[in-house]
Amino acid sequence: MAVLTIVVFAGGQVTFREYRISRALRPDQFCAMQNDAVAQNNYGLNAHQVAENKNGIHALISSPRIYNLIQWAAGEQLYRNRMVRDYIKPFEGCKILDIGCGTGGYIHHIDHYCTNYEYYGFDGEAIYIDYANRHFAARPNLHFFHKILTEDNVKEFSDCDLVIATGVMHHLDDPIVVSLLRIAKQALKPGGRLITYDTGKFDKMSPLEKFFLNFDRGRSIRNEQEYAALVKQIFPNYSSHTPRLTYYNSRNIVFECFNN
Ligand SMILES: C[S@@+](CC[C@H](N)C(=O)[O-])C[C@H]1O[C@@H](n2cnc3c(N)ncnc32)[C@H](O)[C@@H]1O
Repeated sequence: MAVLTIVVFAGGQVTFREYRISRALRPDQFCAMQNDAVAQNNYGLNAHQVAENKNGIHALISSPRIYNLIQWAAGEQLYRNRMVRDYIKPFEGCKILDIGCGTGGYIHHIDHYCTNYEYYGFDGEAIYIDYANRHFAARPNLHFFHKILTEDNVKEFSDCDLVIATGVMHHLDDPIVVSLLRIAKQALKPGGRLITYDTGKFDKMSPLEKFFLNFDRGRSIRNEQEYAALVKQIFPNYSSHTPRLTYYNSRNIVFECFNN
């Protein structure tokens, strides 16, 4: 494992970006773990904690429009609809915290189930939050923050009915997943629920599942038991599911974690 530090000059500012290069990947596809200098300085994250491939085609996904296009092609409308209907299950008056909210892709689907709710979305990617702020500017019940939620700064939340962390755990190393779960638990009121959704590894995988596994930016993709071993450290009361949420033959791993 090698660490490469690159000095980036952009917008009149000098920042440092660190990349961890894994020999396990093909040379043309080396695993670059981008450490955003803002995250490192302000939120205590380092290059070893966000396991993301952001090279080549993956760099394109950082564009909100490209990200949304890929999500759409991947059957986003259907899987988000089913996630909301079967697992997130929002209700009138609920308070929702979305950790790693991206561009706010669940909001239109939550709207089908309730109109009177408060939504707080956090994401470490500024362009996703900028996009969400522009897109949902007319909605005072929706609040977006360009911030990595940590065990320190989550303290203002303790009364959420629902915490969502979809597509997050498979980007994070084990200790940071456990920290993320603690953050979710801190934010939940008694009886509240955390819902996660991630790319998974399975014993027998369809060609499409193998494709998604290889294409995914996350470099900490686990099987159901591996995710569960982390989840139960913080949420002993949980259920796990491996639904096919879209129109093609591909499973994901969903956890419903109960704060009681
Ligand atoms: C693959 S995106 C998923 C976006 C969205 N949940 C969705 O379903 O489309 C994962 C995002 O999680 C964010 N993230 C990971 N840990 C976070 C944390 N502790 N606080 C805020 N954002 C976080 C990353 O910045 C990244 O943009």
